[in-house]
Amino acid sequence: MSDLSVANNTATKAFDVEAIRRDFPILAQEINGKPLVYLDNGASAQKPLAVLDAMDRYYREMHSNVHRGAHTLGDRATAAFEGAREVVRDFLNAPSTKEIIWTRGTTEAINLVANGLAPRLKAGDEILVSHMEHHANIVPWQMLAERTGAKVVPVQVTPEGELDLDSFNSLLTERTRILAVTHVSNVLGTVNPIAPLIEQAKKLGVITLIDGAQAVPHFKPDVQALGCDFYVFSSHKLFGPTGIGVLYGRAQLLEEMPPYQGGGEMIERVSFERTTWNVLPYKFEAGTPAIAEAVGLAAAINYLDGLDRKAMEAAENTLLVRANELIETVPGMEVIGTARHKVPVMSFKIAGLHPSDIGTLLDQQGIAIRTGHHCAMPLMNFYGVPGTARASFAFYNTLEEVEKLFTGLQKIQRLFT
Ligand code: ALA
Repeated sequence: MSDLSVANNTATKAFDVEAIRRDFPILAQEINGKPLVYLDNGASAQKPLAVLDAMDRYYREMHSNVHRGAHTLGDRATAAFEGAREVVRDFLNAPSTKEIIWTRGTTEAINLVANGLAPRLKAGDEILVSHMEHHANIVPWQMLAERTGAKVVPVQVTPEGELDLDSFNSLLTERTRILAVTHVSNVLGTVNPIAPLIEQAKKLGVITLIDGAQAVPHFKPDVQALGCDFYVFSSHKLFGPTGIGVLYGRAQLLEEMPPYQGGGEMIERVSFERTTWNVLPYKFEAGTPAIAEAVGLAAAINYLDGLDRKAMEAAENTLLVRANELIETVPGMEVIGTARHKVPVMSFKIAGLHPSDIGTLLDQQGIAIRTGHHCAMPLMNFYGVPGTARASFAFYNTLEEVEKLFTGLQKIQRLFT
């Protein structure tokens, strides 16, 4: 038996996209008789062998329940699971592993926080979100508002798809109790300037939550530098498994929040007279957790740490630049979201074509994109569209794939309009 912790591959690999693609076996297949071009990374990213192998090895060599066993396998599983928490802490630069809570994903993390902040809210209080939020960062707050009499207030976006800072400045007031904004828009690709927003909010004592689901696949956040109270993300968009996500929360706030779910693990003592809660982070982790998934997420982070981050970000930007150059080659194509600071995500419409038809016709050419409202109906309403087509790129995509997307769109545009 070799070491039990999750292997940390610190050797930095040069950025060689063809070599990197060999780490992702799913990419080397044909769909509808054509080589797969996977451009739906914003919905869910593919997994490197390092993740598949780590989860396989966990189940073959280590699996048992965690924090319970008076036996060796229990110790191995616990070491792997808690080792994964440390990998996530390091990834976010959080001060302590007690501030890293495992959840099912971004959605559950936001629901957990919304539930935990309920005792702090009263009628007339305001929760500031933005027009570019995913439903997961709107609906839990609406449910909280309904319970408490508070109000959800959306910051406007500009036609280019940036947060309207005048709107933010006028809506951030002494009534604001919570600011919940996305780091990166899943529709527009906009990277929001969250550090100054957090700073302004903190001056008014506002609690801040950042939805990092679409940010973490592209860059590493630093929760201490950002100064946010909560930062949330999902593993599956970060090249890890589905079914697990992360809530970073400032210890003091987590201590003050009531538990989200009751059950095993989250208690210190249970009696019919009085039950008391476990310490952080376990207070928020009722029931048997997603152990193999935590191991898989840590393996994904370690895999990314083994890549040259700067080169990876530059390569992603090259994909976006090339995509932008090619827009004019598709008559009637209009991109929604032209912010100055963007990750490689391109939402678009083509005159005379329905987004879902674009998706189906591209799929016939082996090209996977997402179409529809992208769980962002208020943003769709703002742009006056029922939905868009969206190509979202990852570091394993190539310039050739960008070109194939546009060749595919040209063909569809010629044949169907
Ligand atoms: N939120 C994911 C997306 O943007 C599912 O596609």
